[in-house]
Amino acid sequence: MSHWQCIQGLQVAIDGPSGSGKGTIAAMLGDELGLPVLDTGLLYRYMGWYVEEHGASLDDENAVLSMLGDAVAVMDWRADGIFVAQGNEKKDCTSLLRSESAGSSASKVAVMPQVRVALLGVQRDIAKLGCVMDGRDIGTVVLPDAQAKFYLTASQRERARRRWSQLKAKGEEVDLDSIAADLKARDARDIDRDCAPLEKAMDAIQIDSTTMSMDDVVDRILNVLERRKLITKNE
Ligand code: DC
Repeated sequence: MSHWQCIQGLQVAIDGPSGSGKGTIAAMLGDELGLPVLDTGLLYRYMGWYVEEHGASLDDENAVLSMLGDAVAVMDWRADGIFVAQGNEKKDCTSLLRSESAGSSASKVAVMPQVRVALLGVQRDIAKLGCVMDGRDIGTVVLPDAQAKFYLTASQRERARRRWSQLKAKGEEVDLDSIAADLKARDARDIDRDCAPLEKAMDAIQIDSTTMSMDDVVDRILNVLERRKLITKNE
């Protein structure tokens, strides 16, 4: 059982660049609070994967847009991942969507405004009953009325190092410099895009985790939620 009682429908928005620790923090918080954790990056990863899986290039915007409706229709996005209808079965695509190449593909579809609009309703619907949701535009666009918003950062080098050690732990042979270069390119695509760029919401609390442990970041967030009376400790 969760250690905390949350107000009904509590929405906690967590945004930040790749490798800022959003995913880990969101998972730890969801666990603490007993709330579903929704990783919106997975949605963009799925869209990129779906398009390539169906033989189209991500550089062909018309082809991407023509596949949007079908891609959303066969997808089941839940706190435990993304499942795709295949006949009577549902295939769990989550782990293949976590690869570096799926991340790169995601950042290409994520710059397309119509893709973002198509995914907006999906994200708002699933968030209605309360959640911890992480992404790039959650506090600014997807859930502007979320009761609590956090913007996580860390230095580019530290973020690359974290990504490198995650991939190494999974047994992937990776080079730190190429991870750092890819991260830089992805940051630029996320920050410079016209539609829903990565930016801190005015009312978000910024936390720089470069020299903090993940436990410390979670404690800091719980502290804010408790002070604002959004959560209370179970006796
Ligand atoms: O967090 P991630 O690495 O899984 O995200 C993959 C890509 O999707 C990344 O380039 C940014 C994009 N993204 C986005 O534009 N908006 C979101 N809410 C989440 C992810």
